[in-house]
Amino acid sequence: MDKRKILAANWKMNKNIVQAKEYVRAINNESDCLKNCQVIIFPPFVALESVACGSLGLFGAGAQNVHHENSGAFTGEISAEMIVSAGAKYVLIGHSERRKYFGETDEIISEKIVSALNAGLKVVLCVGETLDERESGNAESVVLGQVQGALKNVDAQFLQNIIVAYEPVWAIGTGKVISPHEADIMALTIKNAIKRIFSLPDIDVPVLYGGSLNLSNVTEFLSMPNINGGLIGGASLEAENFLKMIKLSSNL
Ligand code: PGA
Repeated sequence: MDKRKILAANWKMNKNIVQAKEYVRAINNESDCLKNCQVIIFPPFVALESVACGSLGLFGAGAQNVHHENSGAFTGEISAEMIVSAGAKYVLIGHSERRKYFGETDEIISEKIVSALNAGLKVVLCVGETLDERESGNAESVVLGQVQGALKNVDAQFLQNIIVAYEPVWAIGTGKVISPHEADIMALTIKNAIKRIFSLPDIDVPVLYGGSLNLSNVTEFLSMPNINGGLIGGASLEAENFLKMIKLSSNL
C-alpha cells in the first residue's frame, strides 16, 4: 500500500465550473506539496471533467455518486462508465447524506460498488454511526454492518481499489469530532473486519477519517497509526486551506 496520506476533498453541492477551475489552478500552483500526499478532489458532476483534465496527473478526481446500472431509462442518473469517460478515477459511495436524504440502503450501495469496480473506478466507501447509535453502544456493530453489507458482492481481487471513509454522522459539518483515539480504534476494527470477511489476513484496506476535520485537528487525526488519511468537506472548500492541510499531512 502507498504509505502517503490520502487527502480527499468532498465539495458536496458547492462550486460551479468557473470556481472549480480557479481552485484547480490554485492547487496546481503548489504542485510540489501534492507529491507527498495522495490528493483526491470530489467536485459536483458538472465540474468533474474540468477537475480531472486540470489535475495534470498531480491529483485524482472523483464523482460523489454513481448509479448502479450501466445505461438506460434512469433520468437524472450517471453511470460508472460515464464517470470514467470524464477522466475521473474515483467515486464516493454511501456518504451519510446520500443514505439520509436519498434513501440509499446497504443493498443499493453494494450494487453501486460492484458497478463502479467493474468500470475500473476506485471506490471510497463511506460508513459511520449516528449519535444515538454511538450513545447506545452500537457504533461498532452499525459500522461493521455497513461494511459487510457494502462489500458482500465484491470480488477479493478488487479490494485494492477500495478505500473506506469512517465518518461519524454526528461529526459531519457540525464542528464536533470523535476523539482521535476512538476514530483510530474504529479504523482498526474496519481493517480487521475486512481481513476476516475476505479471509485475507495480509490485506490492509486504507481507512480515512472524516467529520469536521480542519487545520487545527488534521495532524492529530492523521498521526494515528490506523488512519490513512482524511475526507474533508467544509474545510476543503478554500483551496488555500486545503493546501495547508495537505502540507501538514505531508510528513506524517
Ligand atoms: P465536513 O464533511 O468535513 O464538512 O464535516 C465531511 C464529509 O461529509 O465528507
